Amino acid sequence: MTKKEEILKEIERLRKEKDVIILAHYYTNPEIQDIADYIGDSLGLSQMAAKTESSTILFCGVRFMAETASIISPGKRVLIPDITAGCSLADSIASKNIQEWKNKNPNGLVVSYVNTTAEVKALTDICCTSANAAKVITSIPENIKVLFGPDKNLATYIKTITGRDIDIWDGDCCVHEDFTTAKVDDLIRRHPDAEILIHPESNCSHHPSILERDNAYILSTSGMVKRAGESPAGKFIIVTEPGVLHQLNLMHPGKTFIPVDINNKCYQMRKVTLEKVLWSLQNDEFLVEIPETIRAKAYPSIERMLQINSL
Ligand code: 13P
Ligand code: SF4
Repeated sequence: MTKKEEILKEIERLRKEKDVIILAHYYTNPEIQDIADYIGDSLGLSQMAAKTESSTILFCGVRFMAETASIISPGKRVLIPDITAGCSLADSIASKNIQEWKNKNPNGLVVSYVNTTAEVKALTDICCTSANAAKVITSIPENIKVLFGPDKNLATYIKTITGRDIDIWDGDCCVHEDFTTAKVDDLIRRHPDAEILIHPESNCSHHPSILERDNAYILSTSGMVKRAGESPAGKFIIVTEPGVLHQLNLMHPGKTFIPVDINNKCYQMRKVTLEKVLWSLQNDEFLVEIPETIRAKAYPSIERMLQINSL
């Protein structure tokens, strides 16, 4: 048996023995996606964390995602294989920034992207993900000003398509910020027959030359996977973290997927390895614990999002 086979066998034994569900984001390493019980985007993973009956969630992703799972599932144990897996977006706004923003806009309503810390969520009115941001914004009465953070590209895209009065925080994802219109235009020139699937965190997502195209779709990660199956196109330019190509290729073997930049990976997501998953299962570490005072304040912002999403 190879070393990898031994690790996989032990992971399999421990996950059953300890009643663990393994959740993984589409941007994790392929071998992590291959052992996951469920692979999803931020919204899908939150929904799965809320509904699973397993007593332990092993979250293969970054810290804010495991925190979100812990906020909505107080009775369950949430483990993350690498506690240092952070996120440039989540780091771009702190709770004191939100408090100051609210003080300056006392009638404003805070909508936070789910890529935020538990402390930021505790000061947030409604959370959103890339899959439901437009739905969340249009659920808010038009006369209310929205304070939207921390992703400026997603916020600008939503402001453009909804025409709403949105104050935008100046944060970005260091991976998606690098997916510029120039890079996408270059690929479009080389593959004129391809459909273009763009994550809204991307720098190019709200650029007029992109929005004017009838073969470009702005979608969350799970939206891309769905569109690739439904579309009559056989070729796609994929403008997001290249981890999603693993599922796209597995699910649609007859189609061609061209990543905008195969080398621009989220190294935070990629910190999760099979060795760390095994260590996590063996040691019941790292346990994600949110102080109850913070958890109780953060919970309604996620619950509202899940309610709006189900409407
Ligand atoms: P989604 O999972 O909502 O597609 O967002 C992508 C992302 O960058 C998550 O960190
Ligand atoms: Fe954060 Fe970007 Fe990595 Fe997602 S891809 S976890 S937004 S740094």
